[in-house]
This record gives sequence, structure tokens and C-alpha cells, in this order.
Amino acid sequence: MADTIAATAPSERTTVHVDLGARSYDILIGRGLIGDAGYQIASILPKARLAIIADETVAKLHLGSLSDSLSASGLGHTAYTLPSGESSKCFAEFERLCDEVLAGRFERGDAIVALGGGVAGDLAGFVASATRRGMAFVQVPTTLLAQVDSSVGGKTGINSRHGKNLIGAFYQPSLVLADTAVLDTLPPRDFRAGYAEVAKYGLLGDAEFFAWLETNWKGVFEGGPEREEAVARSCQAKADIVAADEFEAGKRALLNLGHTFGHALESAVAYETERLVHGEGVSIGMMLAHEFSARLGLVGEDTVLRVRAHLDDVGLPVRIQDIPGQLPGVDTFMDIIAQDKKVSRGALTFILTRGIGEAFVEKGVDPGVVTEFLREKLDQ
Ligand code: GLY
Repeated sequence: MADTIAATAPSERTTVHVDLGARSYDILIGRGLIGDAGYQIASILPKARLAIIADETVAKLHLGSLSDSLSASGLGHTAYTLPSGESSKCFAEFERLCDEVLAGRFERGDAIVALGGGVAGDLAGFVASATRRGMAFVQVPTTLLAQVDSSVGGKTGINSRHGKNLIGAFYQPSLVLADTAVLDTLPPRDFRAGYAEVAKYGLLGDAEFFAWLETNWKGVFEGGPEREEAVARSCQAKADIVAADEFEAGKRALLNLGHTFGHALESAVAYETERLVHGEGVSIGMMLAHEFSARLGLVGEDTVLRVRAHLDDVGLPVRIQDIPGQLPGVDTFMDIIAQDKKVSRGALTFILTRGIGEAFVEKGVDPGVVTEFLREKLDQ
């Protein structure tokens, strides 16, 4: 059944290689790639049966074409859906899906395929890491955020009542298929939120990429060739960082630019996505990281203005006050920040910057200075 590899002509695509020795893999990027999924997966896992774990909303749009492509390449598969939304990243769904995979008699040499955004990818990856002590795993990310961030680099997991992403594993996929055409059906707000992570790569380490985005962002949003280029450059930036520091002992923390403030804002609105989605929190968080860096004398106001102008141009929120509704006071924010994974023995770690493309990890930031800064920002 799984012995034939369909001779489907591969469509135009870009390949980014994630160099991790025995755990290396490719990220393929291009329009219509789901139609090539069977060919691509059969090329690396010719005998695997596939358990597809799909977001139920995405399944309605794209499971049919994925399934057709797998069948054309002789890959046996069964699909399991999960409710859309962050609440699926929980122990109950994890347990259910592990049991489904075992009940379906999938073996160690078989594979889990994640179809959806970050929730499906993180959950399915964790199922793959744990079931039968590790099954092969393929990511088919269908949001911009998942294509440029969560599907790459091997962070998998679920949420606990103690916080987001606190239960999980580093578990690399064998292949990532980023079909940029599926982003055409993404709600504009979600596309914009994902774009915050694209801009992040320029801001943290590549001033030339940020300048390119300032000129080309409309093409990225409209689905021109600029979109593939932006996804590929983002994936390449992440691949380089992950290859240098897979388990976040140092440099990988740069990917958290804007995330300490951003996570605190998401937590402060109790993860109500009507008020704030992750990428919007990252956008405001990146602004705060630049403003805080300016406060510490690390960058000039001109840099802050330039970053704000671009995020504002694309329609992302840039101020705490852009979040609708009431927010808690500074003490609550500092409590949330103190519980962040990036805290070590009371000292705060922040990603600060000396200029566009020049972010760095600063350990031991004085909580008193952060409190004063945030108090001012909340009062503005
Ligand atoms: N999303 C941050 C990381 O993968 O390290």
C-alpha cells in the first residue's frame, strides 16, 4: 500500500534546511504544497501510516486535498480532529489523541501529521513525542504564525492550570510543509498577528530584512511572491538560531523578543482572544521592548519611531491602550512577569536591543526599573 511514491511533479518551492545532525529536516515553502504532501512525505517515510491530527475548522478547508494527495501516493491515513482554540492544548485532548493513535494501531515507524495552526502543531507534536516513546512527525502549518514560528524548532506541548506551554518536550519534526496559498483563507486579523513574528526576525537580527519588509509588506499581505520570500527568510532566521541553540541555553532566547511583555498582556486579559491574540501581544511587547531599551539609553527615539511606524502601517496594535477594556494595575503585571519561564531566581531576563537587528539577551534586569517603566506605560 505504502510502497508507491506518486510521480507528482513538485510545484515551485523554497527549501530551508534545519541543521540538527541526525535530527535535521527540511521546511518546504510554496503555494499549493498540500497538493504535493503525499509525494513529499512518501519521499522520507515511504512505509508510514499517518495519523492526521487536524484543527476542525482547518479540516473543513484543507483536509480533503491533503487526504487526496496522501492517497495518490499510497499513504494510508486516518484523521482525528480537535476543537479550534487554545483550550484544546490540554491534558484531556492529549490523552484522547494518544489513545486514538494507539487504538488505531499506529506503530513506532508510523507518523503523526499536524494540520492547523500553533495549537494543532504543539499538541500533535507532543502526542508524537510521547506515544510509543516517539513517532515520526510532520507539520503542515496553516497560519502565518505557525509557518514562521511554532512549526519550526521542535517546541511541543500543552498548557497547565499553572500556565501556558508548561508541559511539553523539545521534539523535532521530520518535515515541515508550509503551503502559503492556504494563508489566502486566513482571517485578516490572524494574518496580521502572524506578521508580528515575521517583523520580529528583522528586529532581532536582520536590519536588512526589516528594511525589506518596510518596502514589501503589502506584497506579503496580498499573497505575491513576497509572501514566500518573507516566510522563507523568517524560517531561515529561526533555523539558524535553532541550529545554534536547540534547547534554549542561550541564543534561542532572542526569539522571545517582545514575548515577556506580550505574554503578560495576554495573561492580563485572561487570554480572551476577542481582546488580544498572541501576535498582537507580541507587537505591543516588541514596542515596549524598544521603548524600554530607549529608556535604558541603549537606542535612540528614532529607532522606536521607525519600529512603531511599521507595525502601525500594517495595522498591528502598538500601545497598551490599543487593547480594548480595562487592564489590571502594575503590581498584577509584575506578578505575572515574575512567574514567566524567563525568570531565574528573582532576576528578570529581557530581550533588549541596541538598534534594529541588534537584539540581545539581558539577564538580571532590576524589577524596580521595569515596574516604574510599566507604571508609566499603563498610565499613558
Ligand atoms: N517560539 C520561540 C521558540 O521556538 O523558541
